[in-house]
Amino acid sequence: MPDLTITGLAKSFGDNAVLHDLDLRAEDGELFTLLGPSGCGKSTTLWSIAGLHPPDRGRIAFGDRVVFDDRRVDVPPEKRNCGVVFQSYAVWPHLTVHDNVGYPLKLRKVSRRERSERVAEVLELVELGGLEGRYPHELSGGQQQRVALARALAHPPDLLLLDEPFSNLDAKLRERARDWLRILQQRIGVTTVFVTHDQDEALSMSDRIMVMDRGRVRQVGTPEEIYHQPADEFVADFIGTVNVLDGHVAPGADRSRVRVEGLGEPLLVSPPAPAEGAARLAIRPERIVVHPSGAPAATPNVVTVKVRSTAFLGDHYRYVVVLGDHELVVRTLTRIDHGTELTLELPPDAIRAYAARG
Ligand SMILES: Nc1ncnc2c1ncn2[C@@H]1O[C@H](COP(=O)(O)OP(=O)(O)OP(=O)(O)O)[C@@H](O)[C@H]1O
Ligand SMILES: [Mg+2]
Repeated sequence: MPDLTITGLAKSFGDNAVLHDLDLRAEDGELFTLLGPSGCGKSTTLWSIAGLHPPDRGRIAFGDRVVFDDRRVDVPPEKRNCGVVFQSYAVWPHLTVHDNVGYPLKLRKVSRRERSERVAEVLELVELGGLEGRYPHELSGGQQQRVALARALAHPPDLLLLDEPFSNLDAKLRERARDWLRILQQRIGVTTVFVTHDQDEALSMSDRIMVMDRGRVRQVGTPEEIYHQPADEFVADFIGTVNVLDGHVAPGADRSRVRVEGLGEPLLVSPPAPAEGAARLAIRPERIVVHPSGAPAATPNVVTVKVRSTAFLGDHYRYVVVLGDHELVVRTLTRIDHGTELTLELPPDAIRAYAARG
């Protein structure tokens, strides 16, 4: 299966610049996810790959095959051989499952007999074997989504492009669909670009994630890298929950010691803050250690806080605590009473220091 390389992709709608010289590389067989807030350009990127609208500039190649190059090359969508599934089910209500799935083969003038064989084959693949004769309204939402996927796979695609394919499913079905799609994708080994604005979906399914913001790439990495080593505050904030403290490194001072208003001692951070001056310190709730009976001597970054509010969330408790001028979210497995004074440890390697945004 070919990989995907995009260089310098730019696209504007009128004077709204949506993609700014975007670079992207999805490896052969990889499930590569575009993640970012609404309007950041995920669908625009996917549509450019599929050839559904021309970018203004840039180059797109599937393996060695260039499908777009600054408008000198612009292979039409039907020749790009992408399997595409969009947000809405996009199955035709008036066609049976068989005819929905077989449609791309019919377009390619595949004989009726061969078509039926292949349709049966891909329906097996998406675990809908035997449902050829049903109409979409006789299927559940999850099944309709799998019909759309079967159609995308009917003519073996070079690239699979999925744009929020699960957004119409309820939470439980979505979770099952993720597991199931991931297994299928690995089995057929097709290079896949997956678009979502759902961080859980991105973290649980992807080989790598590209976090986008307003048409630019913020970070590319494995789910673990993105979660544990977010490149900047935007990424930290977009993925999961993060506490952010305002800090300051005095000129000429050790950048691994960051002063926070309302705290006596500076916080030790590792790695050190990138620069002197204003800093933003990000720490995930689950990395904060609660010491119910006080922290051992010589533990760095020990602070005393007051519990402001408590919430029980089934598999954990969530607290809002007051630290100096800041509120922090803390998670624990055991209950702590409201109003209690608590000793917390903020491990230096759990704190990521970013330059304050100008
Ligand atoms: N055909 C179009 N004409 C004009 N503007 C468009 C068009 N398509 C998209 N846009 C604009 O381009 C920007 C990016 O849109 P895009 O659909 O790529 O975002 P997205 O990241 O997929 O968002 P979402 O998560 O909401 O689907 C938005 O500001 C949008 O309004
Ligand atoms: Mg979109």
